[in-house]
Amino acid sequence: MNAHKLLASALILGSLALAGCSAEKPDRPVSFQKDVYPILKTSCAECHTPPTGEGYQKSGLAIDTYEGLMKGTKIGPVIVAGQSLNSTLSRLIEGRPGVNPSIQMPHGKVKLPEEKLVLIRKWVDQGAKNN
Ligand code: HEC
Repeated sequence: MNAHKLLASALILGSLALAGCSAEKPDRPVSFQKDVYPILKTSCAECHTPPTGEGYQKSGLAIDTYEGLMKGTKIGPVIVAGQSLNSTLSRLIEGRPGVNPSIQMPHGKVKLPEEKLVLIRKWVDQGAKNN
């Protein structure tokens, strides 16, 4: 088995394990207002609120509103609705392989706990709606 296949199987096993551990029912709709926004407010808004937030100033990404979040950085969106695997935001908060630790989010702080990462990932996969 070459390294790529090995990595691919490890990732698949990893996601199965995560799915298995999660207490959430797979289909429960995740709410932006009730589930996701409070996480962003607590862990991201301090640096991603315009005009003074450090993360906002450096990247242009405002996380204090749904609109700001979906607009993304100066160079473009960080969320692809329905595709957490292709969403920069998910890559950075999950610290996926290949992500430079210096831009892991929240910047310079402890990674979010798994259950919060799962909520955000599901919300993106369910279409990243303002629900
Ligand atoms: C302590 C401050 C701080 C916190 C908290 C923080 N960020 Fe950031 N964020 C930054 C800074 C600074 C940058 C610019 C990084 C760079 O370009 O070097 C940034 C950039 C980003 C980017 C854009 C990366 C790119 O591709 O340019 C995303 C996405 C992001 N943050 C998401 C988040 C999310 C989601 C959270 C909450 C889980 C969060 N950040 C919390 C400071 C922070």
